[in-house]
Amino acid sequence: MQKNLFIAFEGIDGSGKSTQVQLLAGKLREQGHKVYTTFEPTDSKIGKMIRDIFAHKEPADHRTIAALFVADRLDHLLHPENGLLKKLAEGYTVITDRYYFSSYAYHGTHMSMDWVIAANALCADLLRPDLNIYIDMPPEASMERISKGRNSTELYETLDNLKQVRDKYLEAFGKEKDREKIFITDGNRPAEAVAEDVLAAVNHLAGVALT
Ligand code: ADP
Ligand code: TYD
Repeated sequence: MQKNLFIAFEGIDGSGKSTQVQLLAGKLREQGHKVYTTFEPTDSKIGKMIRDIFAHKEPADHRTIAALFVADRLDHLLHPENGLLKKLAEGYTVITDRYYFSSYAYHGTHMSMDWVIAANALCADLLRPDLNIYIDMPPEASMERISKGRNSTELYETLDNLKQVRDKYLEAFGKEKDREKIFITDGNRPAEAVAEDVLAAVNHLAGVALT
């Protein structure tokens, strides 16, 4: 792999995204790449507002949350010191734990998905992932993982919601299939097995990008 890529991991809560971000970053570093890992919601002030809402510290309408995510994402892209565009220009391979498909799926359950896609158009114009990796997990298994790890749950972490979000992810991939590269992998397997498939997909993509 030579070109520095932008890779976005997607999946419902507890699907194993952060685990896979770390595993892929480690493997790419072993191959000699400079890798920058990041996540949304970010740790900026806008991201903190979102986390306060999720932790039930502040009430907010779902439409407000969707708009806050657009602002958080633009800041993530454009921040003058650690923005994604800057990191890519510096030669880093950038891996993010969530990007705009999360908005399509999570907010598309509460409002028109087309509105959410349109609201994120500027982000897509600025930077489209070279690959969206969807870690597919049965919502029941995800909920089991989440409840093992913690004793409180965030705003969107209910079984019914995760089922809807999974359906919306699949709907969004269908809608966007002509302009997005999407790799779907079964997340209900040992983490190393998932990571091997992910690495193969990324290396294949990089090979294709170079020919
Ligand atoms: P996400 O970032 O999608 O919420 P995490 O990577 O934080 O998911 O994983 C959620 C929980 O499941 C963590 O406790 C993690 O250690 C565990 N986990 C992650 N991947 C696997 C896997 N393939 N098999 C079993 N448990 C896993
Ligand atoms: P995250 O911290 O990735 O949670 P987890 O590790 O449990 O998957 O994301 C927090 C929540 O933010 C998660 O429930 C999904 C939600 N979210 C949105 O609703 N819209 C978005 O655009 C993004 C990026 C995340």
